[in-house]
Amino acid sequence: METSSQKREQFGSRLGIIAAAAGSAIGLGNIWRFPFMTGENGGAAFIIVYLICIALIGIPVMLSEFIIGRRAQKNVVSSFKVLAPGKPWFLVGWMGMISAFMILAFYGVVAGWTLEYILKSLTNSFAGKTPQEVGAMFGGFISNPLRPLFWQFIFMFLAGWIIYSGVTKGIERYSKILMPLLILIIIILDIRAITLPGASGGIEFLFKPDFSKLTALGFLNALGHAFFSLSLGMGVMITYGSYVSKKEHLGNATLQVTIADTAIALMAGLAIFPAVFAFSIKPSAGPGLVFVTLPNVFLKMPGGYIFSLLFFVLLAIAALTSAISILEVVVAYVSEDFKIARHKATIIITAAITLLGIPCSLSMGVMSNVKFFGKTFFDLLDFASSNVLLILGGFFITLFVAWHMGKDAARREVTNEGSLPARYYPYFLFVAKYIAPVAILIVFLHGLGIVKV
Ligand code: TRP
Repeated sequence: METSSQKREQFGSRLGIIAAAAGSAIGLGNIWRFPFMTGENGGAAFIIVYLICIALIGIPVMLSEFIIGRRAQKNVVSSFKVLAPGKPWFLVGWMGMISAFMILAFYGVVAGWTLEYILKSLTNSFAGKTPQEVGAMFGGFISNPLRPLFWQFIFMFLAGWIIYSGVTKGIERYSKILMPLLILIIIILDIRAITLPGASGGIEFLFKPDFSKLTALGFLNALGHAFFSLSLGMGVMITYGSYVSKKEHLGNATLQVTIADTAIALMAGLAIFPAVFAFSIKPSAGPGLVFVTLPNVFLKMPGGYIFSLLFFVLLAIAALTSAISILEVVVAYVSEDFKIARHKATIIITAAITLLGIPCSLSMGVMSNVKFFGKTFFDLLDFASSNVLLILGGFFITLFVAWHMGKDAARREVTNEGSLPARYYPYFLFVAKYIAPVAILIVFLHGLGIVKV
């Protein structure tokens, strides 16, 4: 029956695995969402809670995903079918498919904006503009019916191209090139920001906690963001785990990816806040922090032209290596389970998700009055995926490993059939069984507004 398993690709090296998985985790979530969430939730105090969420929930959920994927050697739907035959667990995989469509639809739109901003930086379009004009430029661009679509198509084409090229020749190859480049760029931006006169206000904001600014809602935001930032809850790490060799150490990989993702988020904060404070610019919330506040910062900064260009290239690279991971979850499922050639599956799925992105993009302008449950199409997809599906997915994934797979199967997977020590295992099991599911449930009930805080 298993001719397909002979053809199954595998990441070629440890560096390739880490680059691909960290490439998925490090994205718009780190460089665009994390800084403004930190700004809105009281700075350092939010960061401390976020770090606790990463350690307590992020790590066990990620390890659970890797365990499922590598044990089953299948895509996210079939993994559950192989490990729990005849049981409804595979529905968790289907939920992942739905999340993938929803997230990539709006993610591709924002990623497209980063390409426009690379061009704006290249052509020095911010020069001589007032802060109001820079803000109006952003508003005018995202509400234009055609221009953002053009960039969204280009971005989705690039993501589709990498997935079309395969797991080793696509995902692994491009991640190994793009991730070091991303790290280099962010280090340059950090040095620039920290060495600005007056940077200390921003550094203090990031590292000196003021717990009076942290609300209960801030706590829950931190947990939700941990999920989004680590790419958890929809099967990315299940799918990537299925390409990991049986010789690799899953516990170490989990730790390395988590540390890389967290470090890049903190470094993004360090590149942004010291610069914002140094020029006494009032940071705006949400999408504006990166697309409005930062161009204003770059206008005042010595060497701003080149740093602006570097920043938006950084953002585009981060978005690309994340987008491909979402696409791969669906392509792996459709090509394996429906026996469609990978190339064909890639074209069909990329096109379908791009189409779903069109109303997302238009909801910033001509469709801004079309509301579903009081939300624009863009906000609806964002809310339903991040606040409902991912969280439910993570909940069931940890329950599956801790309660259904059984102690032994999971232990055999993390110890490579007993050949590796894993002294952390009892702690992992305890957290995966009790702590993580309870904490996740609290976030979920809050997300739906069932528990008000
Ligand atoms: N983690 C990515 C970011 O921080 C986004 C992302 C990629 C994602 N794959 C995911 C989010 C799967 C949730 C689920 O931008």
